[in-house]
Amino acid sequence: MSKIKVLTIFGTRPEAIKMAPVVKEIEKNPDIFENFVCVTAQHRELLDGVLNLFEITPDFDLNIMKENQNLWSVTSDILLKTKDVTEKVNPDIVLVHGDTTTSMASALSAFYAKIPVGHVEAGLRTFDKYYPFPEEINRVFTDSISTYHFAPTDKSCENLKQSQIPSKNIYKTGNTVIDALLYTVKNRQKQVTGLNLNPDMKTILLTSHRRENFGDPIKNICKAVLELAEHNKNIEFVYPVHPNPNVRKPVYELLSGKERIHLTEPLEYAEFCTLMKKSYLILTDSGGVQEEAPSLGKPVLVLRNTTERPEAVEYGTVKLTGTNKEKIVSEVQNLLNNKNEYIKMSEAINPYGDGFASKRIIDVLKNIKH
Ligand code: UD1
Ligand code: UDP
Repeated sequence: MSKIKVLTIFGTRPEAIKMAPVVKEIEKNPDIFENFVCVTAQHRELLDGVLNLFEITPDFDLNIMKENQNLWSVTSDILLKTKDVTEKVNPDIVLVHGDTTTSMASALSAFYAKIPVGHVEAGLRTFDKYYPFPEEINRVFTDSISTYHFAPTDKSCENLKQSQIPSKNIYKTGNTVIDALLYTVKNRQKQVTGLNLNPDMKTILLTSHRRENFGDPIKNICKAVLELAEHNKNIEFVYPVHPNPNVRKPVYELLSGKERIHLTEPLEYAEFCTLMKKSYLILTDSGGVQEEAPSLGKPVLVLRNTTERPEAVEYGTVKLTGTNKEKIVSEVQNLLNNKNEYIKMSEAINPYGDGFASKRIIDVLKNIKH
């Protein structure tokens, strides 16, 4: 039988981190698969760092990123450019990941070419159209187009069934982010250079970049950080700032040059994992970080009002905190002062996977031609 042609398409940092283990697993089976990787480069520098770390050389690089790009241009660029790639490769399956514009537009492109789509990280939902925006609709849309649904948890499988996706097309695999995390923590740890953190202080790691937090919410987050740093002389904040100008501008205006607040460029994944391990506490609106931190036993305060990742909230290691300044200050203060509360939240649990998600996905792909 001829080999199975797999075209994997991704474009942003989190998709790259979560698809890298899948690509590596496909590469291990050259007798079964013909492996093609297409990056849209919806992100440029953030994507390239991950490609380097996992030693992935794309067959196609659409290089679409523009400074302060918008949803319309990103969508149409990807739709048009992936048409050429799909026609050239004529794959048996297109694999996409998650809920970005790259995922949605690449899935649509494959659908127009009548090529089956496999959706990695399928079934996440908040059931609120505008939160997160535009990711909730991106994932609903991608799920409705896809044939193979690789869902990370029981909850995501349930969401898919509720969306009338046939059970036979749903595969519970775990989340590939845990594959990437465990590999990186075991083999590629890397200290962040030039930060000069005080070993006697507690490190609080912070990231934020969501569109819903642009404007006042991100300013509230920064004001909470300022207040916390001022009142707690034994803590330091490290904030790798996302390159989106809507994030960078307010963050640098409010936090630059302040004592015990370190603003950095985005960190390489290997550095970021090392820093997560060292941190006392993590504040974030990131999806991926919500999944990684519980595996490392780090409490997370989620700077959003809803989450499509309720599993760790149910286990008690992640708390939905929102973006109200007073609420953030009081939740952080509680975890600094209340040892029992901190210990309760810092149990290392792993609701998102066991490190073998990619292998399970590849086992399904091996049989798609039968
Ligand atoms: C995108 C995804 C979001 C995901 C996030 C991960 C969409 C609509 N949004 O949001 O779901 O959580 O990625 O980080 O798909 N930039 C650079 N260099 C880079 C990357 C970004 O300079 O390597 C700047 C550019 O000015 C770019 C801007 O950030 O125009 C926004 O990038 P974009 O991918 O549109 O949005 P994100 O906020 O990164
Ligand atoms: N990350 C990283 N460097 C950083 C910040 C985050 O490598 O400076 C990693 C993080 O460990 C996680 C992923 O990037 O795996 C999350 O990406 P992001 O928060 O941008 O997107 P989201 O997951 O919210 O879509």
